[in-house]
Amino acid sequence: MLRNKKIILGVCGGIAAYKAIELLRLLTKAGAEVHVIMTSAAQEFVAPLTFQTLSSNPVHTELFNLIAEREIGHISLADRADLFIVAPATANVIGKIAAGIADDMLTTTVMATKAPVLLAPAMNVNMFTNPIYQENEQKLRRLGYLFEAPVCGSLACGWEGEGKLAAPEAIFESAVMALTEKDLAGQTIMITAGPTREEIDPVRYISNHSSGKMGYALARAARRRGAQVHLVSGPTALAKPDGVTVVNVTSAVEMKNEVMAHVAECDVVIKAAAVADYRPLVRNSVKIKKKADSVTIELVKNPDILAELGGIDHGLKKQPFLVGFAAETDALAENAAKKLHEKKLDMIVANDISQPDAGFNVDTNRAMLLFKDGSSCRCELMSKEQLAGTILDHIVVRLTER
Ligand code: CTP
Repeated sequence: MLRNKKIILGVCGGIAAYKAIELLRLLTKAGAEVHVIMTSAAQEFVAPLTFQTLSSNPVHTELFNLIAEREIGHISLADRADLFIVAPATANVIGKIAAGIADDMLTTTVMATKAPVLLAPAMNVNMFTNPIYQENEQKLRRLGYLFEAPVCGSLACGWEGEGKLAAPEAIFESAVMALTEKDLAGQTIMITAGPTREEIDPVRYISNHSSGKMGYALARAARRRGAQVHLVSGPTALAKPDGVTVVNVTSAVEMKNEVMAHVAECDVVIKAAAVADYRPLVRNSVKIKKKADSVTIELVKNPDILAELGGIDHGLKKQPFLVGFAAETDALAENAAKKLHEKKLDMIVANDISQPDAGFNVDTNRAMLLFKDGSSCRCELMSKEQLAGTILDHIVVRLTER
């Protein structure tokens, strides 16, 4: 996600400095090249060696360093950055930036950079609500500085309230957002994810192995690229993606109702959900007791939501770009092509679910993408995050061709 991105991570002096270690780990794991600058107060809380070891780069602490100054350290660092994050950002450093004071390596480099700056404040609640701090923040926001707001909680100083550094994952998400091209801005995308559950009685249900990971990865990626995302989710154990509207449903019929209620507003519909094809004809209102030696449950066909979407006549309005998924154990390309044609789709993502590293309940996937015009391409084994990016790349191209 962050390959080839150069990020400066500025760390100020506060008890939350230790959380910057986790943020650094997330950034480097995503492929970013990270250069850490620490204020002298920050070094009281965490040793520079920790950041140096985890970033594999020297940590900058001094404004005037004889070796780096041969190329004017703070200027070359500022010029090379794609993003500058300050986490934790203290009231003092935010105040200095707002006032244009540049008296150490961190504040000088912030002043010199043309890269976007993301500030993650952490401070005592009374400092945070102080009108001086609030005015500084408002001024910086007006000037285009990005903020990852602190959260409420018990603070190290003993107070309860707003001022706790946002979670490293939330700061990471904002960093990715800031670095992602908004090539889906203006597009409304509906994504379905996860399994459906078809209840037999209040205790039991029929379902499948879908974890929802692929659909959620698509929702996160589409939102980062600027789309309005409406996620219709079957039961999953996944966290709600930030900035996405999520509607939870249980059965195929509920999913259909939700999808149909919103399709008219959508430019793209991606049906990554593993919808149960059948449901019990009767849902017992009380628990079925273990009396008989064998039980037969009559099943009836569920609506095929995707096929119904493909069959809708949208009149003057453009048909949304329809993307289906095909979960197959054999004849992958043939079966997927058949679904593409029969359900009148623009694109289908075919998964070979017989492989242990692809399809249901794993973090990786291997897919074949097939398009309405007969073209296709193969995506070798990759993470579901990466596959989500590739799928959206193809959608962006096809949307511009429409
Ligand atoms: N789908 C749907 N409604 C259903 C069944 C499937 O919208 N009742 C959608 C899925 O979300 C997926 C695509 O249709 O995008 C293909 O689903 P899949 O389970 O692979 O195929 P089916 O059409 O159900 O056919 P089969 O189970 O026979 O392979």
